[in-house]
Amino acid sequence: MSSPDVTLVAILVDATATLGAVKSMPELEQVKAKYLGKSGSLTEQLKSLGKLPPEEKKTTGAAINEVKSQVETLINDAKTRIANAELASKLAAESIDVTLPGRNPGIGGLHPVTRALERIESLFATMGFSVADGPEIENDYYNFTALNTPPNHPARSMQDTFYLANSEHVLRTHTSPVQIRHMQAQAEKGGPPIRIICPGRVYRCDHDATHSPMFHQIEGLWVDEGISLADLKGTLTQFFRAFFERDDMQIRFRPSFFPFVEPGVEVDMEWENKGGKIKWLEIGGAGVVHPQVLRNGGIDPEKYSGFAFGMGLDRLAMLKYGVNDLRLFFENDMRFLSQFR
Ligand code: FA5
Repeated sequence: MSSPDVTLVAILVDATATLGAVKSMPELEQVKAKYLGKSGSLTEQLKSLGKLPPEEKKTTGAAINEVKSQVETLINDAKTRIANAELASKLAAESIDVTLPGRNPGIGGLHPVTRALERIESLFATMGFSVADGPEIENDYYNFTALNTPPNHPARSMQDTFYLANSEHVLRTHTSPVQIRHMQAQAEKGGPPIRIICPGRVYRCDHDATHSPMFHQIEGLWVDEGISLADLKGTLTQFFRAFFERDDMQIRFRPSFFPFVEPGVEVDMEWENKGGKIKWLEIGGAGVVHPQVLRNGGIDPEKYSGFAFGMGLDRLAMLKYGVNDLRLFFENDMRFLSQFR
């Protein structure tokens, strides 16, 4: 049997070579057991100490412990080396090529009705109109009665709507109630001039390719001294030509009845259909504000006059973007909407 010193040197030489070549953590565990495990070579050496005479025990024990601690250092070095190598290969596998072109985050776009609205607001702003607002759940008085449409008036049935049970409230059928609300608010501040547009959602019991139960209107109101039907025609013609970017676009006023204007007109715009035929499409109602409506708004009809109009915003967007079915705007189909990005 070789002396403990020779054996210890052989173990250390062997451990240095083996641990220097170990490539993975499981392999390291096995190698570690070979030296320090229950029947590992160094453990065996320690066990054999008991058989030695007392005078040798001390020096041999110290020598074994010295080798044991060197082997432990080798194990720790191997552990660090393997961990670093594993991290480096993981980083290499997951590396990001920063020179690749970026992926489009797909930020979406504005809804075509919103786009049309923003354009309309900015065009009217150039003519001095500011934007007003009003409630969508409106009371019966503002939606009908204050606009010369008392209960049982036949004009109410033309705007059949959603009534709130046991309440004076309706989902507003048009944006015209904002006329009264705004005139009343302005009367408290000293009266006209008033020059507003009011875009918003309105509701009716309608449903087909050009009628939706929820749709959008844009109300317009200009009240001042000496405002007439001629101002209405000039303002709307100017607007349509700018909106559709056609200087020769024609608009037509057809006599019509709305209880809150006198005279009242239906506004049609010239429009070329798919077959290239020129057609007229009704886009809104308008007229000179009825004196009683001015009075309901707290404004003196002897001193002031005005015009009002109410246009279908969705219809304007349909014509602007060549959409043939109004319902497409409200179905939220991405194949349709993404065309407007
Ligand atoms: C009115 O609503 C009046 N308040 C307009 C008005 C304002 C007249 C001020 C005089 C003075 P009318 O019901 O015609 O009018 O509706 C106006 C426009 O809204 C229509 O020309 C059309 O473009 C649009 N419209 C009406 N019903 C629907 C619907 N169900 N879906 C989509 N658009 C509609």
